Amino acid sequence: MSQIYSGVKAAVIGCGGAGRGHAAKAKSLGIELVGFCDEIEAKAESARAEFGGRYATPDAGRIMRDDSIDLLVIATHHDAHHPIALAGARAGKHILLEKPMCVTRVQAIEVAEAVEKAGVKLVINCKFRIAPTAQKARALLSRPRLSHGQLAMNDSSQSGSTWVWHPDDGGGLLISTAVHTIDLLAYLMDSEPDRVYAEGQVFGENKGAGGYPDALVGTILWKTGALSTVISADQGMNTFVSKWFHEVWDGQRSAVFSAHMGRVDFGGCDIDYLDTRELPDEEQQQASMMVNLLEAIRTDGDTLCNAHDGVRTVSICNALDEAVRTGKPQTVPN
Ligand SMILES: NC(=O)c1ccc[n+]([C@@H]2O[C@H](COP(=O)([O-])OP(=O)(O)OC[C@H]3O[C@@H](n4cnc5c(N)ncnc54)[C@H](O)[C@@H]3O)[C@@H](O)[C@H]2O)c1
Repeated sequence: MSQIYSGVKAAVIGCGGAGRGHAAKAKSLGIELVGFCDEIEAKAESARAEFGGRYATPDAGRIMRDDSIDLLVIATHHDAHHPIALAGARAGKHILLEKPMCVTRVQAIEVAEAVEKAGVKLVINCKFRIAPTAQKARALLSRPRLSHGQLAMNDSSQSGSTWVWHPDDGGGLLISTAVHTIDLLAYLMDSEPDRVYAEGQVFGENKGAGGYPDALVGTILWKTGALSTVISADQGMNTFVSKWFHEVWDGQRSAVFSAHMGRVDFGGCDIDYLDTRELPDEEQQQASMMVNLLEAIRTDGDTLCNAHDGVRTVSICNALDEAVRTGKPQTVPN
């Protein structure tokens, strides 16, 4: 596989945990890592030293002006996703953009328009939808009627990523982290959203920065008439329930996801369960948004989580937040 992609040249912008993870994946696929950028130059240099590359820089503009670079990995804090993705698309680079696509719907639409105009490929790393468990459930349950998605704990305080709570650089827990759940529900329900409602609560523990709720419980009515419930909360680690939990029903069949999307148990289907950890290594490694982007570039096809998907997911998150803020149900713009 690495031979297929060996002509691709990439840069990583945002050299923290996620950026370095993508650099390792890119290297394993034979991609040449040309440049590393971080506003903290030492982090860019440390990544360059680890993965190789021609230069490290604190200036994203240098990466944009480098015509040798085909592909950008953007793994910065969330406030920088919009300006950097916009500049990347305008510079004609293909983009792997970490979630969330942007913090606001207006920003996401601007990026989507720039991507379309430039004719570049964009994948957003809402990676739950590429998990073999999600792929199987989507194949077995067509247009579910009901679903539930839940993030009920988060290790941001342990990992040091407390910035996700910040209204400015993170945007709060929903858009920062539970965005994975919203995106998965949109994918599995296979519908545009219609209306949402939510209640939020600040339980304290110094997490809901700036009054942002550290617990949000919401509903989504889809255009198909289907319904979802959502929990986005940080209630500390829990040894009994996975950090993530999702359930889907279509009236006859059901799917229950656990083990960080690693396992799905089916009811009413020909198979009882799928556990990703039992799959061959190569199959597990293929379930990657970077591979998906590279295949979209190679075949001139679409990515699994494209600009439209990103705009929709950000729009749902923004509408849920607005419902909490106003105490009123919100129609989600399409
Ligand atoms: N898809 C996933 O499962 C997953 C998992 C973890 C993180 N993420 C995402 O990856 C991104 C980065 O998260 P992280 O955990 O690596 O955070 P991090 O704090 O470890 O790294 C982010 C890096 O970006 C740099 N940065 C911030 N603003 C910048 C700018 N304007 N220009 C250049 N560099 C800038 C910071 O200095 C930092 O080094 C976020 O979007 C996060 O949500 C996704």
